Amino acid sequence: MMKKIVETERLYLRELSEDDFEELCAILQDEETMYAYEAPFTDEKVNEWLNWNLASYQKNSFGLWAIIDKNEEKFVGQCGIVYSDVEGKNLLEIGYLVNKKYWRQGYASEASALCLDYAKNILKTPKICSIIRDTNIASQTVAEKNGMTIVQEFHKDYSGLPVKHYVYSVDLVNELVKRKW
Ligand SMILES: CC(C)(COP(=O)(O)OP(=O)(O)OC[C@H]1O[C@@H](n2cnc3c(N)ncnc32)[C@H](O)[C@@H]1OP(=O)(O)O)[C@@H](O)C(=O)NCCC(=O)NCCS
Repeated sequence: MMKKIVETERLYLRELSEDDFEELCAILQDEETMYAYEAPFTDEKVNEWLNWNLASYQKNSFGLWAIIDKNEEKFVGQCGIVYSDVEGKNLLEIGYLVNKKYWRQGYASEASALCLDYAKNILKTPKICSIIRDTNIASQTVAEKNGMTIVQEFHKDYSGLPVKHYVYSVDLVNELVKRKW
């Protein structure tokens, strides 16, 4: 049985498993979905991604989780908490990727709000960030709804080309006043 982490009335987050490979491919191999990343993933990279998350559950107790809509148990996307390296610093990040069939239905907002609560109440971390490409407006809108603001700008290397990214961050000690939902 896959471990359920947190839920709302509409959805829950659970750990990913090997059985989710096809659902992950539908997201991670789609060109439009992956436009803010360096490139859509090969099968091998999808496997690495899955194994990276399975290892993170063991090591950290968190990682990217599956977003499941309780209506028909639909796999709508991924959202969770990961460690990310930004210029040599290891930051706690909320990440989200939704299958494009389900975009603009509030899934990323609702799932990331759960992760924000998890980071604050379970991990008790004082702040958490989202690392977002400068052109990724959808993702930036979700970060802003989570009360995040830009605290840093840096460039990621995409096959030798520098690509501008922002670190959005929220102070979880004082964040309740800032959230927009
Ligand atoms: C970013 C992403 C996860 C958002 O998922 P989603 O479930 O569609 O987001 P929501 O429905 O919760 O939308 C959140 C807000 O963003 C807005 N939004 C969503 N997509 C948008 C778009 N393409 N352009 C502008 N605004 C957009 C919504 O209108 C909503 O704002 P509102 O509540 O004020 O109406 C989704 O677009 C995605 O998977 N993108 C590809 C992967 C990716 O870039 N992930 C993030 C990497 S940092």
